[in-house]
Amino acid sequence: MWTGLTLFVAAAVGGGNQPPAQPVNIQKDIYPFLRRHCVSCHNDTSPGALRSLTGYQDETAIRRDPGGWAEVVRLVESRAMPPANSPRPPAPDRDRFLQYARELRTVGK
Ligand code: HEC
Repeated sequence: MWTGLTLFVAAAVGGGNQPPAQPVNIQKDIYPFLRRHCVSCHNDTSPGALRSLTGYQDETAIRRDPGGWAEVVRLVESRAMPPANSPRPPAPDRDRFLQYARELRTVGK
């Protein structure tokens, strides 16, 4: 039962001018990255039966699928996804996504 939980993430990745801590907002901090870099291939009608990533639009959906989410994080971390023939996500976008995504992954365990 995680819906009442507010997450705070230490915004200390690489310094910069980020505020000290902020709640995770899936529609702002998580899903735009997936939409920009993943959903063109991983959607509900993609050929090759790739896993659709369009369901990760709220915290409940992510927490319901900790194994699937951990795989997403692992593949972005290892730079296996998006695949080599796709445009690379800009490093700041990727770092920011991973910062929030890891938090969701660990708190769910
Ligand atoms: C250009 C198309 C393309 C993009 C963009 C893409 N993927 Fe994939 N993805 C694939 C293909 C093809 C596979 C299966 C073959 C493989 O593993 O390389 C795959 C496999 C996966 C899998 C394993 C489950 C499955 O569907 O087979 C996950 C999880 C995944 N990708 C996540 C992501 C994430 C997260 C992103 C964005 C950061 C992303 N992918 C971007 C094409 C893509």
